This record gives sequence, structure tokens and C-alpha cells, in this order.
Amino acid sequence: EKGGYPDFMLKEIHEQPRVIRDTLAGRLDGGSISIDELDMSSEELHLVDRVYIIACGTSYHAGLIAKNLIEAWARIPCEVEVASEFRYRDPIITPTTLVVAVSQSGETADTLAAIRDARVKGAKVFGITNVVGSPVARESDGVIYTKANKEIAVASTKSFLGQVVSLTLLALLLGQSHGTLTTRQIKLLFSELADTAEQVERILADDSAIQEAARACADATSALFIGRGMGSAISYEGALKLKEISYLHAEAYPAGEMKHGPIALIDEGFPVIAIATRGPVYDKVVSNLQESRARGAMVVAVATEGDEEIKRHADHVIYIPKVRDAFSPITASVPLQMFARCIALERGCDVDQPRNLAKSVTVE
Ligand code: M6R
Repeated sequence: EKGGYPDFMLKEIHEQPRVIRDTLAGRLDGGSISIDELDMSSEELHLVDRVYIIACGTSYHAGLIAKNLIEAWARIPCEVEVASEFRYRDPIITPTTLVVAVSQSGETADTLAAIRDARVKGAKVFGITNVVGSPVARESDGVIYTKANKEIAVASTKSFLGQVVSLTLLALLLGQSHGTLTTRQIKLLFSELADTAEQVERILADDSAIQEAARACADATSALFIGRGMGSAISYEGALKLKEISYLHAEAYPAGEMKHGPIALIDEGFPVIAIATRGPVYDKVVSNLQESRARGAMVVAVATEGDEEIKRHADHVIYIPKVRDAFSPITASVPLQMFARCIALERGCDVDQPRNLAKSVTVE
């Protein structure tokens, strides 16, 4: 069943290029993005003036990534909120609000309650789930399935990537309906998005740098993940994966917040894992690395292939292929999944069945 892999987590990590391809199959029709399951006319979509993404855990992190894309490409304000908070507030919802509920299992109690509330308040609710016929699918107005197929390891990997790619499609669709992306831009973005499948394959083909960095961090008691922009959203997921399966305390911070508190944690050998890919905030992240290193941090940088400069600021560098910043979550999340798994194995943990966690959280 594990297809020759030692655990389900590794098998599922390796399925990700296939998930990307399947999620994108048939979505570009001529020059337009088509998500018929959304069941909204282009006129209705055009009227959307606010997006709420509601989810829990890893699915929430996929939402943080999507917020950046929706606001950049469609220029619509987008809020991301954990479902357990959303359901007990009185969020501002109108008939032109689109609520997107993201849930791998499709049965998370808080996410379902949030869907019900949003619909009562008159919003259209769009579900993104991996489980056909699940409550999230049944109770939403429209649904995209993430095409990850059954995910067995408790820590979500391939379904997270399926969510990120599906939400990216939704952001493209909103850019299309709002006239903020041209057909030419959509085609170019879609083709670069499709290329990430092959780029993830390349990352999976060589895990030696990841293993080396993981061995260096395995005895730590705490670790900090930092990044800016897309990198900060990626950091949250990297930290969650690590704590879930290795029980190593990990926290994520937008790198610009270091000076406002977390830098006090850093002493000799403290692991700082940075998303330092080439992009609009690269120099800013590098300066945060310099500050961390000056205080003794052991820096692991996830960086762009060909970036020699980063070696001066990091103890370990994990190179990933160059992609547009918008797609960096797809490529940069994969080494962080592998990094968490390697540390968990070094620490003798069961990566498929972490303690205290369940695959579906059906009670609040
Ligand atoms: O099934 P859901 O996506 O609604 O689940 C949400 C969280 O419980 C889930 O993502 C959790 O954080 C996982 N253990 C992630 O690895």
C-alpha cells in the first residue's frame, strides 16, 4: 500500500507533482480559466467585492497564501480566518461576499459551522475539499475537489498542495472576472503554474541538503521559521508540520517582526529556518538573517537555485528551482515537509500517526 515507500507521508509527498497536474487538467479553456463547479455566472463573480477564506490548521495556511494572490490579481479585499474564530464573531458578510471554505477532510466541525453561518447571512459559499460527497461539499454552493486522492498520513502534505493550486486557480478566475488580468497574463501565469509540477519533481529527486540540515537541527528544543510576503505564509506551514510530527517546538514569524520580540530567543545554535527565495523582499530577509546570525543562530535557508550570495548568510542552504514569487509556496513548501519528516525520523517519531492528532476533527 505504501508503494515501496517507508511511510505514507513520504509516499504522499512524492505524489504532489501528480496532484498539481490533475488539479490543473482542463482548467484553461482557450484563454480563460474555467471552474464550472463554482456555479456562479461571470456577472455574479464580477460583483464579488470581498472574499473570506475560512479553514483550520494547514488548510488555513493555504488560505494565507491565497489571500496574497487574490488581492494581487483581482484587487478584491480578502480576509483569512480560522473557522473557530469566524463562527463566534459577527463578520461582515453581504450578498456580494464570497466565502471560501477549505477543508481536506470536508468534515471539520468548526469549518462546517462557519459555512452554515455564512450561508444564513446570505453569502455564496465555495468549498475546497479532498473528499467527494463530504459535508463541506454538500453544504457549499459550489465545490472544487483537490484531486489529492486519499491522504493517510495525519500530517497533510499533498492535500495542502492541492488546496494551494486550487486557490491559485480561483485567484486567476477572480482576476479574469474583475478584468484585472488580461488573457495574455492568465495564459502566462497558468503555464508557469503548470511548470511547478516538474519543478517539484526536481526538488523530490535530491533530498541530500534537506537531510543534512535536518540532522543539524534534530537535537534542538525550539526552532523559528521566518519569511516575508509569501515567505511568511510558507513559514507558518513549515512550523506546523515540524511541531506536528517531530514534537519539536516551532514558531513562525514574519521576518520583519524579529526585532519586536522573537530575536530575544536567539542564542548559540538556535535554528532559524528562513524562506529566502529571490523575490521582492529577498534583501530584507537577508538582513534579518544577518541579525540572527550575529546572535549565534544556526540558519537554514530555502533559497533559489543559482543564488551563491545566500551561502554567506546561512549555515545550510536548500536550493529550489526559480519560480515567480506567486508560485513560491508550491515549491518552497515541499522541502519544508521533507525537512519536518527527516527531523521526526531522527527523533524516532512515527511520522504517519503523530500523538494526540486525528485525521478528521469532527468535534469542536
Ligand atoms: O480536514 P481539514 O483540512 O479541515 O483539517 C484541518 C486541520 O485539522 C488539519 O489541517 C491539521 O492541521 C492537520 N493535522 C495538518 O497537517
